[in-house]
Amino acid sequence: MKYQDEILKRRTFAIISHPDAGKTTLTEKLLLFGGAIQVAGAVKSNKIKKAATSDFMEIERQRGISVATSVMSFEYKDTLVNLLDTPGHKDFAEDTFRTLTAVDSVILVVDSVNGVEEQTRRLMQVCRMRKTPVIVFINKMDRDGKNRFDLLEEIEKELSISLHPMTWPINQGKDFKGVYDLHNKSLRLFTASTKATDEDTISIGDLSDSVLDQELGERDAATLREDVELIDGVYGELDPESYRSGDVAPVFFGSAVNNFGVKEMLDTFIRIAPEPQDRDTSARKVAVSEDKFSGFIFKIHANLDPKHRDRIAFLRVCSGKFERNKYFHHVRLNKDVRFSNPYTFLAREKSVVDDAYPGDVVGLFDTGNFKIGDTLTEGEDFFFTGIPTFSPEIFKEVVNKDPMKTKQLEKGLLQLTDEGVAQLFTQYGGNKKIIGCVGELQFEVIQYRLLHEYGASVVFNSLPFYKACWLTSTDPKKLEEFVRFKGSNVAEDKDGQLVYLAQSEWFLNTERTNNPEIEFHFTSEIH
Ligand code: G4P
Repeated sequence: MKYQDEILKRRTFAIISHPDAGKTTLTEKLLLFGGAIQVAGAVKSNKIKKAATSDFMEIERQRGISVATSVMSFEYKDTLVNLLDTPGHKDFAEDTFRTLTAVDSVILVVDSVNGVEEQTRRLMQVCRMRKTPVIVFINKMDRDGKNRFDLLEEIEKELSISLHPMTWPINQGKDFKGVYDLHNKSLRLFTASTKATDEDTISIGDLSDSVLDQELGERDAATLREDVELIDGVYGELDPESYRSGDVAPVFFGSAVNNFGVKEMLDTFIRIAPEPQDRDTSARKVAVSEDKFSGFIFKIHANLDPKHRDRIAFLRVCSGKFERNKYFHHVRLNKDVRFSNPYTFLAREKSVVDDAYPGDVVGLFDTGNFKIGDTLTEGEDFFFTGIPTFSPEIFKEVVNKDPMKTKQLEKGLLQLTDEGVAQLFTQYGGNKKIIGCVGELQFEVIQYRLLHEYGASVVFNSLPFYKACWLTSTDPKKLEEFVRFKGSNVAEDKDGQLVYLAQSEWFLNTERTNNPEIEFHFTSEIH
């Protein structure tokens, strides 16, 4: 393996959570451990502030800032950690889903007060689909949250994943005393804003040790002994393979804002998280160890400033070595392209990079050559698979207000949807253009950008659909018949695939029952 050392050294992951669970705070603490930032508060610009949730220009401005923090790389204990940022705002959920295709594992933050929330469910669904290894961090233990056993049960049940506690909390809220590390058999007492050095831990050789009573008081020491006995009996030692296969999620308890319980998690992450993995393509499995370069685009960030129309395409390197100024094969366009100013994000500094290895993410300046899912290789023709498109939840018809600008409008719609801002459908057998999004904000973004970047003026007419389902069937005749009968509810996506636009769950279920030969899919893979 030519690049073995580089590959084994890398861990590429994302932190996911429902907004406000503590993702930004945790990110910041991890960066502090990695020495990537020196002061607390430095990552705040990364977050879309609550006050701005109804003002998309402000959100885009803040997202602009967040380009710099799209990937945060740092070294920790000889490991190169690539942390991919995901927008917390629910209207940008698709961005997050796509970023999840570029990581090898995730850390899921759950708020101990609120437990499993809507976004947690949706994000975990994507992780389960991809069998992504997950570590769970139960945050805000300094607040009066749910009972720890109930929380574990809730997470297991709601997210359909088996959990494996790695640390165990001693009380919570104002009585929170710390965590017991089940793996290292040590106690870490809770202090706010601890720097979490190794000296702070108390090694407990045997749980009957009286040091436990001295540190915690007899009552809490007794509870901990009982809890640990129970947990050890149920779970035993973690089998790292069951984590790597996505079946079992190790769980840590802590308080991100107090930097408590974070180091235990980071140390375990470094020990067990998967290095860059092999990946499926349309032609064959690409081994991460292959000498030849390959990678794919998972995110495109547009510059909203009309003076700088360039975009940044984010490339995940999957095999071989990416090199600056070297020609690579753009599979979809069947042309060779090279990049003179690719950049990476080590220590939060955007800097031009000469080469990058599997697991790395490279930012490429793009003038419109890329769309999400594009693959670059050293000549071979294949596409990386498993980059999903999810059913939108809001649908609107595009009404052109200026017929003189029809061409510009079409170009704009194609380019914006290539970036992944929204999905474009065309009514079957007609011309009606339908935009589908997960959030209302996207419509404002599209309207604004069509006008300012393409000179096209549009309004939107709401359509009464609730989901788009991609249609497949082993019986082409039946499918044809269905499409003919349901014409006004059928559309084509940009790749010409048929979708059924359902008015409600009831309609969808009825069609499913009446047409057993047809399959209705809520997701479609880009390739
Ligand atoms: P997000 O990125 O997941 O949306 O969450 P973020 O880290 O911004 O955290 C949301 C709020 O929760 C913040 O408070 C943050 O300080 C707080 N928080 C994070 N971790 C903990 C914890 O362990 N314990 C407690 N009690 N609070 C925690 P905020 O008031 O919204 O923002 P700020 O003004 O404090 O920064």
